[in-house]
Amino acid sequence: MRTTRLLAAGALALLAGCQPSPPTSSAAAAPPPPLLPKPQASTIALMTGVIVPTSDAIWQAMPVSDKDWADLRYKVLLIAEAANLLAVPDRPTLLPGEKLASPAGPGDLTPDQSAAKIKAEWPTYLAYAQTLQNGAMATLKAVDSKDADALVEAGGAIYEACEQCHKRFWYPNAPAAP
Ligand code: HEC
Repeated sequence: MRTTRLLAAGALALLAGCQPSPPTSSAAAAPPPPLLPKPQASTIALMTGVIVPTSDAIWQAMPVSDKDWADLRYKVLLIAEAANLLAVPDRPTLLPGEKLASPAGPGDLTPDQSAAKIKAEWPTYLAYAQTLQNGAMATLKAVDSKDADALVEAGGAIYEACEQCHKRFWYPNAPAAP
């Protein structure tokens, strides 16, 4: 009894499968809206709310217990993934109503100027985001081998990645360090 019903249902499904519904004219005219990823936060919000507190916690970490190392590991993964977020195109640098956490210094690009430069030099921006992710992955390796010296060194690589990107896309006119 059950088998017959199943067979009948299968036959119906087959019949339905043989007659694909033609695309409606409206679907042909308007392509569906693109799916993820869609930027929702500004770059400044990601820096202030996610990247700064997380990288600070990594730089200050002095893990001892297994739990310390496990907690640190999640922070490092968050930086690695934050690099992916920076790679989502068309992210606004600052949204209306948002403020810079620290006032712009002389020679700093304004958020609008930064946004224009990022758009114009997108592959370079992506390369800097990749450098940040590489730093995070080196840090992950140090964490997984519980190597405190390697942790400090890889933390330095993360810091370098921040600096390199900022030098090009935030304060390109800053005087070179003496
Ligand atoms: C791929 C590029 C890139 C990387 C990597 C990057 N940043 Fe940024 N960061 C930016 C841009 C762009 C701005 C906005 C510049 C502006 O105000 O016009 C910014 C701004 C900031 C600000 C200023 C926030 C404010 O409100 O004034 C801080 C702080 C900051 N980043 C910290 C970091 C730290 C810490 C790291 C590394 C762990 C990092 N950033 C890595 C691109 C980057």
